[in-house]
Amino acid sequence: MDTDPKKLVVMASGRGSNFQAILDHIRLDVLQNVEMVLLLANHADAAALERASSQGVEALLLERVMPAASATPEEKEQARRNYDARVLEQLKRRNVEMVALAGFDQILSSVLVDAYPMSILNIHPALDMGRFGGRGMVGRRVHEAVLASREKISGCTVHFVDNSVDQGPILLQHSVPVFRGDNPDTLSTRVLVAEHRTYSKAIQLLVDGRIVIHDGRVHADPYSGMWDYRWKLREVGYLKHQQEHSRELYGVDYELVQGVLWH
Ligand code: GRF
Repeated sequence: MDTDPKKLVVMASGRGSNFQAILDHIRLDVLQNVEMVLLLANHADAAALERASSQGVEALLLERVMPAASATPEEKEQARRNYDARVLEQLKRRNVEMVALAGFDQILSSVLVDAYPMSILNIHPALDMGRFGGRGMVGRRVHEAVLASREKISGCTVHFVDNSVDQGPILLQHSVPVFRGDNPDTLSTRVLVAEHRTYSKAIQLLVDGRIVIHDGRVHADPYSGMWDYRWKLREVGYLKHQQEHSRELYGVDYELVQGVLWH
């Protein structure tokens, strides 16, 4: 590639396994033309911070300031805007061009959203964003809701972040089956394996100019010029990594990971 790599920040609140997966894709040269410049977290105990700094990625803690419970909606909104203005200052300082939210537990205000139009992505562990996304649909609750409604298929969604909650234009999805006997833990692990592959692919599509937005709808072109084929060839490097590190990544052997993904 003859262009400068796109500078990416990942914003996380917890364990940071999606941050790790994106970093691994970059280091394995699967995800190309992307530079991970920063991991930003809003909780001091976010494991993502340690992951980043121990692997040579700058880790920045900007602690979330919780408004008082008695605060008015306007005051709460102002607190979010103030926080986002601090984030924005840090991103501008590092010339960040693209933002990936990965388990970030704050809703962004228009301060950030408007500063990075169609350049902020989020990953969500379900397919139907209408029913299984939105305010309060986070973590385990998503998988509980999917199981309660007896879905046969779940998966993950990468979408652009706009001024809605989880309803921005969808860029890429990956489905996984729901099995009889699944519980929120087994289902979330199966979805997580897919998340780790899907987020980097979505980022690569965007970086490679394969995404066009027209009338609020995303048009992706993954096939011309053999793009998808070339991605799959490179992705083998990451699949091998998932296989070799399956126990530490998912707590199960790869045979099980494979089984849960491809059945
Ligand atoms: C993922 O399931 C993601 O879809 C959701 O939050 C979780 C973050 O996990 N938005 P991790 O911190 O990346 O491990």
